[in-house]
Amino acid sequence: MTSTFPSHRSTRVSIIGSGNVGGALAQRIAEKNLADVVLLDVLPGRPQGIALDLMQSSGIEGHGRKIMGTCDYADTHDSDIVVLTAGLPRKPGMSRDDLLRTNAEIVTQAAKQAIAHSPEALIIVVTNPLDPMTYLAWKASGLPPERVMGMAGILDSARFQTFIALEMGISPTDIRAMVLGSHGDLMVPLPRYSTVSGVPITELLSSEAIARVVDRTRKGGAEVVELLKTGGAYYAPASSTCLMVEAILRNQPRLLPVAAYLQGQYGLRDLYIGVPVKLGCGGIEEICELELTAEETSALHQSAAAVRSSLDAALLI
Ligand code: 2OP
Repeated sequence: MTSTFPSHRSTRVSIIGSGNVGGALAQRIAEKNLADVVLLDVLPGRPQGIALDLMQSSGIEGHGRKIMGTCDYADTHDSDIVVLTAGLPRKPGMSRDDLLRTNAEIVTQAAKQAIAHSPEALIIVVTNPLDPMTYLAWKASGLPPERVMGMAGILDSARFQTFIALEMGISPTDIRAMVLGSHGDLMVPLPRYSTVSGVPITELLSSEAIARVVDRTRKGGAEVVELLKTGGAYYAPASSTCLMVEAILRNQPRLLPVAAYLQGQYGLRDLYIGVPVKLGCGGIEEICELELTAEETSALHQSAAAVRSSLDAALLI
């Protein structure tokens, strides 16, 4: 699929929500010279201050990208990608699902307002609880499902990659990890499909070590929340989202775990959940169905049941 992005103007990414994730993502996108950035927030001054601070470093960083802060959706017009990070973050002791009621309305309104000014955009959702929020954003946007996706699997897989590296004392750059399912306690790390220089970790680590690494991956976000006490992780979420932005804008078809809308794949239907997809300029260009064991399939379906329950609650709001 050839890139559909305009050659007559700079590519543009609008980030709805200029909290820690939004600010870190704006920095990553600009410093990788991927696109101009519009940061939007309801809090007057915050997006404008972050944008100005980032612009003041643009000469040093050498990217020359335009970074704008605004409280007006009209300023996000003609975005190629809209990233939804708006919503409350977790506090210590909270699950992502505890954010459901508050963030459902925020995400729904943000999606509607953003797409009204950027009807050709792709939407990447980051707001938690990720899987139901992505479904709500898709419904509110009216876009085809392949143009709305959730960022979670890349983050969870990056955590799995990091904890495998720490367990083995090996550079994470030699490790490829795969995590499917919900962005929650029932996520499904796949040791069989996680490798060190091509060798599955099931051949390199004991089952006890794998269980330890899987458990720490599942709790990877909560571990940061407990340490920070004032909110959630943002550097790794920003890096993970930026990877998706890059794959789309540079049309580098990547096979990555992304929250995608399933219509029968993996025996699941009418929900967003993390699965391997081919990601490119058209958004989710293909959903890849891996051969899963009965145990892996069962874990994915349990994860989906939790997403379904959360989604049903969100749809009642
Ligand atoms: C995390 O897992 C914020 O959902 C994000 O840290």
